[in-house]
Amino acid sequence: MSGGNIRLGIVLPTYNERGNLRTMVQRLDAALTGIEWEVIVVDDNSPDGTADEARVLANEDRRVRILQRIGRRGLSSAAIEGMCATAAPVVAVMDADHQHDPELLPGMLAAIESGEHDLSYASRFAEGASTDAWGRPDRVKASGMANKLARKVTGVTLSDPMSGYFMLRTETLRKDAHRLSGVGFKILLDILATVDAPLRIKEFPMNFAARAEGESKLDRTVVFEFLVGLYDKWLGRIIPTRFALFGTVGAMGVAVQLGALWFLLHLVFGERFVYGHWTNETTFNVANSLAAIVAMSFNFVLNNELTYSDKRLRGFTPLLRGWAKFALTCSLGLLTNVGSAAALKAMGFHDFVAVIIGIVLGSVWNFALSSKFVWGK
Ligand code: GDD
Ligand code: MN
Repeated sequence: MSGGNIRLGIVLPTYNERGNLRTMVQRLDAALTGIEWEVIVVDDNSPDGTADEARVLANEDRRVRILQRIGRRGLSSAAIEGMCATAAPVVAVMDADHQHDPELLPGMLAAIESGEHDLSYASRFAEGASTDAWGRPDRVKASGMANKLARKVTGVTLSDPMSGYFMLRTETLRKDAHRLSGVGFKILLDILATVDAPLRIKEFPMNFAARAEGESKLDRTVVFEFLVGLYDKWLGRIIPTRFALFGTVGAMGVAVQLGALWFLLHLVFGERFVYGHWTNETTFNVANSLAAIVAMSFNFVLNNELTYSDKRLRGFTPLLRGWAKFALTCSLGLLTNVGSAAALKAMGFHDFVAVIIGIVLGSVWNFALSSKFVWGK
């Protein structure tokens, strides 16, 4: 075999970056003269044919490799798999849309190869950095806030733990790769919060350029997953994340039921509120039953969208069936709730305590049953 050892692997996670790829490889080539490198394009089967373009480039230049994933999405997981797919001792992750300047790579590599640092990363918020080309002040602000929040929750002190441009020894990564969450965009933060060994980090201020072609994939789902991930690191071990989401949705359901009840009584049935009671008991009971069904349906939809977004039911029949099962689960949960409260009260517990424990037991019941029968396999 001939050829020198690869010194640096560069992972480019891509989703619809066809138009950016060729110029990215050219820029890498120009920036890395004198360094043996390879680039691993990790593409999630982009509809624009990014993977085909990567194959064309790979046929022209053996330093280009392509890892095409089918039926999966996600920047973090793509980065992890790319980093595990290189034989190089050092690996970098960067965006493929030209927002990250490849000229920083040799300096980042030197910091690690010197043995003085374990991780190099480029910061948008360090002294001397700029995000002018970002063009959207709201995005700069949001990113600053996300950074602050992330630093609080994880105890990480970097100026930009949300940066998507970093480099580390592949071995460091591989040791803990199985413990990384792989969700969303926060791969560097994940590494920093997960790796046990103390990392000596070198920060490189960067000029975060404007995206060359195409558009950003950082959407509402990514932001939601980010917040869920922070919660998971913060309280997840005490109250499991999915249960916390389920409980939050349930609490919102209480507000929905009260709102729906008020709406039905006042605007539909035209009842009047007199001295703390509604005038007609039958109307009240009918309205409250309807309101409970509205709240239950609201909970079903929200749990389907958020709590079980990874197992989301889609299509009319699956949704209808799921809704019916959820309704059944909830009515059993209600029995648990009211029944245990009655039993506790009979045992001499304070009314309020009995009610609260009833609610908790009912929720646990609903959660356990619905995660098995509504969103389970
Ligand atoms: N394989 C794969 N799968 N790649 C993806 C996916 C995905 O689901 N989503 C995004 N990418 C790729 C993009 O193609 C691009 O090369 C890179 O990841 C960054 O994605 P952008 O969509 O350009 O992100 P951005 O510029 O809005 O977000 C920037 O800021 C984030 C934090 O604030 C980037 O620098 C991110 O890396 C950073 O986490
Ligand atoms: Mn980008």
